[in-house]
Amino acid sequence: MTSKSSEVPLAVGDVLEVVIGQIAHGGHFIAHAQGRTIFVRHAITGESARIKITEVRSKMVRADAIEILVKSPDRVAAPCEFAGPGACGGCDFQHIDIARQRLLKQQVVQDAFRRHARLDDVEVVVESVSGDQSGLSWRTRVRWSVDSSGHLGFHRFRSSEILAVNTCLIATQGQGGVPDRTYPGALEVRSAQGSDGELVISNAASGSVSSRRVNQEVLGRKWNIDIESFWQGHVGAAEALVRAVLDLGNPQLGETWWDLYSGVGLFSGYLSSAVGPNGLVVAVEGSARSVRDARRNLQHDQQVKLVESDVARWLAKATDHGPADHGLVSGIVLDPPRTGIGPVIARQIAAQEPRVVVYVACDPVALARDVEIFAAFGYRLDKITGFDAFPMTHHVEVVATLVPIPGHDQIS
Ligand SMILES: C[S@@+](CC[C@H](N)C(=O)[O-])C[C@H]1O[C@@H](n2cnc3c(N)ncnc32)[C@H](O)[C@@H]1O
Repeated sequence: MTSKSSEVPLAVGDVLEVVIGQIAHGGHFIAHAQGRTIFVRHAITGESARIKITEVRSKMVRADAIEILVKSPDRVAAPCEFAGPGACGGCDFQHIDIARQRLLKQQVVQDAFRRHARLDDVEVVVESVSGDQSGLSWRTRVRWSVDSSGHLGFHRFRSSEILAVNTCLIATQGQGGVPDRTYPGALEVRSAQGSDGELVISNAASGSVSSRRVNQEVLGRKWNIDIESFWQGHVGAAEALVRAVLDLGNPQLGETWWDLYSGVGLFSGYLSSAVGPNGLVVAVEGSARSVRDARRNLQHDQQVKLVESDVARWLAKATDHGPADHGLVSGIVLDPPRTGIGPVIARQIAAQEPRVVVYVACDPVALARDVEIFAAFGYRLDKITGFDAFPMTHHVEVVATLVPIPGHDQIS
């Protein structure tokens, strides 16, 4: 594609001086130079910086801030020696004061709703979750890459190259010794630390795994899960999200709830107590391993029905004839992967006419798009809260509720 006439072509490696503007989704900040919008990493709004172009595409130019000429008062020395331009691609906010990180995430969520849901007045607070230690030592599970000499590391940003590391400061301290040894021949190493403190390391190539199962306790309930099944990453995230789902959804005795994208059944475990023995929770999950874990962990919860299926496929069958045949669905929890759900699933959910949908989202843009889609099917955004479940990175977890729009025909 050709450049507009006012644009001077930029090339990878060019160094420019810019003023850093607003944050954009994905851990970048916006800058403008030579007629182009540039997405800059390692900067903060309001700074002046020398930036180096790292990628030029027809619609997107990326750059790293390599020298800060005027510093933000919220700039701090990155605690991790592996963070920074050209280094580990994992943490993009290590150079930002933790309180400002959360304000930036709030801005990203609000901006997502403005752009993708046409909602200009969404107020959201991004809270720290329990166990927060100024953004470090929170990650209960780590997938380490392994370089050709068997050392553990992480991919450099947007690169297949592995940067060997001797520590990961956002991992819980019990995983601190994991990179001390080498894992020759392994493609990937997984480590996890349970809430009982036990460290589990899974390294398929060495066959040295004694246990692949991790113990977690959340709100007094014990969970035992395979290291490869999905589990919330932050030490306090599972509890924060369960509380949010219960507080915002307010499940009642005797109700029917669906827990879609249910993983090992985390939310179902607590919805089960809330709806009681005369209620019903249908948990739908696509991973056979996670459903096996759910079966094991929820074996005494008679009111939970576990379904191993693709959510779209299950919904197509379950909602074939309008509202589900097993009675009124009072509430539906959605915790989809980053891509969100899209119109087909949103329509099927709205057709059930639940009194509330509780949407747990790890991508605010996908959430905002789905909120816009739900509006067409008669559901509006009601409450929203954010959690800093991934400190030091740009990621944010958001829980939102959708409720019926009075007078709207939900299934039209
Ligand atoms: C973000 S996790 C949430 C798991 C669970 N709610 C929790 O908090 O622990 C999303 C889950 O959706 C599952 N999943 C992804 N795509 C799916 C699909 N199309 N159908 C069913 N499950 C799917 C994944 O296996 C994963 O367990």
